[in-house]
Amino acid sequence: KKRVLSGIQPSGKLHLGNYLGAIKQHLDSQAQADWDRYFFIANYHSLTTLPDAAELRERTLDVARTYLALGLDPEKSLLFMQTDVPEVCELAWILTCFAPMGLLQRCTSYKDKVARGLSANHGLFAYPVLQAADILIYDSHLVPVGSDQKQHVEVCRDLAIKVNQTYGELLVVPDPVIKEDVAVIPGTDGQKMSKSYHNTIELFATKKQLKKQIMSIVTDSKGLEEPKDPDTCNVFRLYHFFANADEIAEMAQKYRAGGFGYGHAKLALFEKVDAFLEPYRDRYNHLLEHPDEVMDVLRQGAKEARKTAIETTRRVREAVGFINH
Ligand code: TYM
Repeated sequence: KKRVLSGIQPSGKLHLGNYLGAIKQHLDSQAQADWDRYFFIANYHSLTTLPDAAELRERTLDVARTYLALGLDPEKSLLFMQTDVPEVCELAWILTCFAPMGLLQRCTSYKDKVARGLSANHGLFAYPVLQAADILIYDSHLVPVGSDQKQHVEVCRDLAIKVNQTYGELLVVPDPVIKEDVAVIPGTDGQKMSKSYHNTIELFATKKQLKKQIMSIVTDSKGLEEPKDPDTCNVFRLYHFFANADEIAEMAQKYRAGGFGYGHAKLALFEKVDAFLEPYRDRYNHLLEHPDEVMDVLRQGAKEARKTAIETTRRVREAVGFINH
């Protein structure tokens, strides 16, 4: 059985980048009856940048709510908190002993954060090693992610290969799965959409906030009457994910003809995104009122996931020479 695994950090409200780049693929994979699916909330990872207990707790539950509202089916996929499987920290330590400093120093997500002035704690530096442990502890084959996570999956592969060269075939070497057209979803300022760039369009914001975020998308300064190029416009780019082929062609035509302003395009995008989210809002709001239902799913997911993790940990402990007894 192929095992699909992915994680998502609870460091802010989930946004269209998370959805289009990752969550949608995770949920679509539920159609594959012969795959195992493990999706988890990377709350150990978020502690590297979010030292606020109340917020971390709330964000963690919100990731679960978001997945469940959008259609995660606990019968088909495990959903769990990373911290419910503490074995992952032990495996991370073992992998740390195989992780060359240079490999981690080259990681761009770490370098970016340092460049943006975040004081680097050791957790941030060791982040990719814990991520490798996340993947390897469940013998995962496929890791569906956005392209910003590609390098981390490569680090994971490097570490698995190194361990296997030392002890024999011990760990499954995983492959990233990155869908080209959604690999990097742009945010309202045109950079990659990211919680840390404050340029997100949130999935379960109020309608008013959603509209405000969409209206704030930066465009060029062409006037209402001027013809515009849909292919270089982020509003159009986002629109095409939510519209059908006829609507996309019609919108492109309006851009090229002139007399159609960016304000109009943004309103059309707002209506599409709003209509897409509408059917999921009830379930989201229901879960907001019923945290016990969310916790039940997380508890059940963790129970299953932990069984796999304990097996792998035993196997690895044995192989490296720790004494299981
Ligand atoms: P995170 O929480 O930053 O993002 C979660 C998922 O969303 C994708 N993503 C995007 N895709 C396209 N365009 C965007 N603008 C965009 N923004 C985010 C990410 O690529 C990711 O797939 N380190 C991971 C969490 C993690 C993990 C793991 C992932 C921890 N352990 C093990 C996979 C396997 C992270 O911070 O993702």
